[in-house]
Amino acid sequence: MSKKPELNVTLGGIELQNPVVTASGTFGYAREFEGLVDLNRLGAIIVKGLSLQPARGNPPPRIVETPCGMLNAIGLENVGIEAFVRDKLPFLRTLSPPIFANIYGTTVGDYAELAARLDALEGIAGVEVNISCPNVKAGGLAFGADPDSVFQVVEAVREKTTKHLIVKLSPNVTDVTVIARSAEAAGADSLSLINTITGMAVDIESRRPKIANITGGLSGPAIKPVALRMVWQVVQATKIPVIGIGGIMTAEDALEFLIAGAAAVQIGTANFVKPHATTDIIDGIEIFLKNRNIARVSDIIGTLETAPSIF
Ligand SMILES: Cc1cc2nc3c(=O)[nH]c(=O)nc-3n(C[C@H](O)[C@H](O)[C@H](O)COP(=O)(O)O)c2cc1C
Repeated sequence: MSKKPELNVTLGGIELQNPVVTASGTFGYAREFEGLVDLNRLGAIIVKGLSLQPARGNPPPRIVETPCGMLNAIGLENVGIEAFVRDKLPFLRTLSPPIFANIYGTTVGDYAELAARLDALEGIAGVEVNISCPNVKAGGLAFGADPDSVFQVVEAVREKTTKHLIVKLSPNVTDVTVIARSAEAAGADSLSLINTITGMAVDIESRRPKIANITGGLSGPAIKPVALRMVWQVVQATKIPVIGIGGIMTAEDALEFLIAGAAAVQIGTANFVKPHATTDIIDGIEIFLKNRNIARVSDIIGTLETAPSIF
């Protein structure tokens, strides 16, 4: 019988007990999943995107199921930083996994202020800067699609925080490696990708878009090959850890990202399909490693073999 494999990974100085992390916006503020998931087994928890003021998001309908995925245009509804600190953080502080706050703003100053306020808080391991939301009019992707504004936002946040700084990248760009390098140069500790891919669905009877916002962000299994390709490209192009996100439903999906070079993975849409997807994925990774006598999950990270095979 082989030994229990070691699942821990490091993310630029932060130790995670395993590489499985919740994706922002798909796991609430974690308490919503209490009783469904053993929260203390998670590698890390990333909470719903926070803004300075509470936000109502976009009008409904704002979610629609599509083949192998879903479109959403929530528009970053959230309780705002003040209520987060008062009502959500006390519970999060009782959990053992590192907690990351995902932030978004409509100006560089918003991002900097959010980072400064979070920097002062105990119980927050780091921030994930969302410069990639396709569903808000100002901010979000408006920053994430241009290397100069990415640099400005990340530099401003870096000045205000000593905590771990993850920059979350959008797939809705021509060359994701240009954006990734800009975030790295501005001081990001790690990169996460991908956010959703802009998409659309039409009701042919009413001839109306199925989402009130007209377009939404596509997530779920449909985006996995795109996400995997982009993660692999960014791993080649940068020196900082990359967290893979996009359509990860099973341990096998997660392993594909790890082999392609991701230091960790985030689980999003899968949480809606199966609330305990995260812990199932942790178990599945462990079984995969054990069955192959691989001692550590870190032994498979970045082991993708791309040289042509000889027949
Ligand atoms: C309903 C919903 C809400 C989301 N909200 C956020 C958010 O607040 N901030 C953010 O950075 N990403 C948000 N995302 C994007 C996810 O974190 C993730 O990047 C994306 O869904 C791709 O992963 P998946 O295919 O595993 O869902 C949201 C996604 C969904 C489906």
